[in-house]
Amino acid sequence: MLLSVILALISALPLVLGHAAFWHTSMWGFNVTDKTFPYDNRPVAPIKNMNFTEWWFHNHLAYPPNPGDFFELPAGKPATAQIACNKGATDFFASSEGGDIRNAQNPNDVCPGATSQEYHTNGFDDLEGCALAIAYKSDVNQVQPEDFTVFSVNQTCVWTRFTDFQVPARMPPCPDGGCICAFFWIHSPLSGGEENYMNGFRCNVTGSTSNFPVAQSKVARRCGADPTNGKMQAAPANCTYGAKTPFYWFNLERNNMFEGTYSPPVYNDLYNFLDGAQDDIFVDSYLSIPDPAPNAPMPILADVSATKTQIPSSSSNNSSAVPSLAARTCGSSNGSSLRKREVVDVDEGSTSWGGLIFRMSKRSRRLDLHKRHRLWHMW
Ligand SMILES: *[C@@H]1O[C@H](CO)[C@@H](O)[C@H](O)[C@H]1NC(C)=O
Ligand SMILES: *[C@@H]1O[C@H](CO)[C@@H](O)[C@H](O)[C@H]1NC(C)=O
Ligand SMILES: *[C@@H]1O[C@H](CO)[C@@H](O)[C@H](O)[C@H]1NC(C)=O
Ligand SMILES: *[C@@H]1O[C@H](CO)[C@@H](O)[C@H](O)[C@H]1NC(C)=O
Ligand SMILES: *[C@@H]1O[C@H](CO)[C@@H](O)[C@H](O)[C@H]1NC(C)=O
Ligand SMILES: *[C@@H]1O[C@H](CO)[C@@H](O)[C@H](O)[C@H]1NC(C)=O
Ligand SMILES: *[C@@H]1O[C@H](CO)[C@@H](O)[C@H](O)[C@H]1NC(C)=O
Ligand SMILES: *[C@@H]1O[C@H](CO)[C@@H](O)[C@H](O)[C@H]1NC(C)=O
Repeated sequence: MLLSVILALISALPLVLGHAAFWHTSMWGFNVTDKTFPYDNRPVAPIKNMNFTEWWFHNHLAYPPNPGDFFELPAGKPATAQIACNKGATDFFASSEGGDIRNAQNPNDVCPGATSQEYHTNGFDDLEGCALAIAYKSDVNQVQPEDFTVFSVNQTCVWTRFTDFQVPARMPPCPDGGCICAFFWIHSPLSGGEENYMNGFRCNVTGSTSNFPVAQSKVARRCGADPTNGKMQAAPANCTYGAKTPFYWFNLERNNMFEGTYSPPVYNDLYNFLDGAQDDIFVDSYLSIPDPAPNAPMPILADVSATKTQIPSSSSNNSSAVPSLAARTCGSSNGSSLRKREVVDVDEGSTSWGGLIFRMSKRSRRLDLHKRHRLWHMW
């Protein structure tokens, strides 16, 4: 018994436990091992300095999930993902080369037997967050990098194997064949070189109560405080608001981020990726989003609470239709139903800007639940 455990561990060792991936049967590359490609192209392998074919979907498009395998995204609830340095450290160990290597003492161990440096963090304070993005298309060959919108962020990723991603309550239904999603992660510059992580998977939104589509995503701007790079104050008006595209960084083609080695783009407040559900990504989320700049006017959030459960009848079977904004503001075009966005948080270092109270730390605007409810739960 003990011997077989030791043998199993030894057989897993040559794989070099390290890095991290999103694991689920709905993913592309679920069974790809270090032998499948001429190079180590396991889902956990980092991506950098590659051409588009090599990095897009981790070059796993020829290794699709089995038909019918979807990762479910329950609108308004958390979806729990498994993130680990090896498939054997997840509940999907049965099809892993090295078998079950889960840590019986700690089911949340991302990489049993390894230190956290193996998954690129020097500790809890060195986490930079990861993201799930969605494209409302069913045919993966039709999906382009710009089609993805980040809909959920976990800023304390990749600290635990089971990682919750809050799904925005207003996520519209997917097309008949489901949606295409992907996991994205860029780790701290203090624990490893510049690298992207991407794992694509089939997903499907369940329990939708809204039909307003996700807006066209835009590249996220580096607007938060960044003390390690000498920027003490956040510049909230410089942020990208609404739907944001994942980061494509440090590859040879189709990058959208050009930050240097020691200032990687990261999924947290530094780029206005708030922790949890990205509730403001829909076509009707804002009344106005001025072009961002340090001294630009702030965006104005729409108050969509009144129409929270309304599914426009004109598009009840057509999720690609864009309902008219005028129709959904119930004829009130004089602004009485509109509310200005306030952004408040509880971290150190507040600045007052344009009459709005602003506090942004490098990492995390942690709204307390009550405030978060008041300020963000307008949907
Ligand atoms: C991408 O790089 C690989 C490996 O160097 C090469 O075989 C392939 O032809 C390249 N593809 C394109 C489209 O440049
Ligand atoms: C992965 O391998 C397992 C075990 O061989 C198999 O049952 C499963 O269908 C495979 N999945 C995919 C997506 O190829
Ligand atoms: C991130 O995942 C952890 C582990 O599952 C969870 O405790 C935490 O609540 C999640 N964060 C958010 C914002 O959902
Ligand atoms: C996606 O979920 C919806 C809502 O539960 C369901 O009606 C639909 O059949 C699912 N799509 C797929 C492809 O499974
Ligand atoms: C504003 O955003 C741009 C684009 O990300 C960035 O280069 C610049 O440093 C930011 N300026 C401030 C003051 O935040
Ligand atoms: C659904 O869409 C089809 C066109 O694709 C249309 O003929 C039909 O009337 C619509 N059904 C409803 C309930 O709107
Ligand atoms: C859905 O709505 C879009 C936009 O209005 C339209 O172009 C498309 O033809 C519609 N599809 C169906 C099946 O009705
Ligand atoms: C705005 O419209 C509402 C009803 O739609 C009305 O009661 C209110 O008086 C209007 N306010 C102004 C300033 O016109």
